[in-house]
Amino acid sequence: MITIKSKREIELLKVAGNIVYKTHQYLKPFLKPGITTQEIDDLADKYIRSLDATPSCKGYQGFPAAICISVNDEVVHGIASERKLQDGDIVTLDICACYKGYHGDSAWSYAIGKIDEEKEHLMKYTEEALFVGLKEVKAGNRVGDIGHAIEKFATANGLGVVKELCGHGVGSNLHEDPEVPNYGLKNTGIRLREGMVIAVEPMLTAKSPRIEILDDDWTVVTEDGNPAAHFEHTVVVTKDGYEILTGE
Ligand code: MF3
Ligand code: CO
Repeated sequence: MITIKSKREIELLKVAGNIVYKTHQYLKPFLKPGITTQEIDDLADKYIRSLDATPSCKGYQGFPAAICISVNDEVVHGIASERKLQDGDIVTLDICACYKGYHGDSAWSYAIGKIDEEKEHLMKYTEEALFVGLKEVKAGNRVGDIGHAIEKFATANGLGVVKELCGHGVGSNLHEDPEVPNYGLKNTGIRLREGMVIAVEPMLTAKSPRIEILDDDWTVVTEDGNPAAHFEHTVVVTKDGYEILTGE
């Protein structure tokens, strides 16, 4: 079921989204060679709770950590561990927070030290793909318009589109209808309406888009071991565009 959010709900979603944004800004300076992903997760957990929110991922379908931390060939749902970040890595923090029953969801990929050209290209164009997709967000457009724009842009820039994972509605549940695929055809899928809240989240790969799931039953990695990047904002659909909820 797709819901239209009330003004009050949008205000709460904005607070939740802003907490997610602040958590990204808080964690950024810690993302240096030598820090373990567990240390990052602990910092995120404490910081989110200090803002009167809870980390939505913790316990979500049994997920064991506060946020998802995915390194290099890990696409999404990486679990914190004693792994140390190294110069040349890219790390994606996918952060979800719940404030007074409403969620915010935003993922961002970060470079650790100096990354190679392939990773530079991947990061730059995956971030751009997010905004190319968001450009299609407005009342009257359809979810297929978003997916089509992202897929076309990604493919034109030599990147792979992970098809098994999608964006989604956000509200009092972290994942709501509609699904927002990163591929598709123009003029297809459900129509966007003012007051819908969705997460747009291209997950792109440097080479093949094929993925597999590790034995921990969570971590999604590229099959070929090449890197992936992921950029995501939660936005509210407006009459002629969108407003980012996971921003300042
Ligand atoms: N932003 C992630 C997603 O939309 C949140 C996952 S929470 C987890 O898939 F618990 F499933 F990891
Ligand atoms: Co999401």
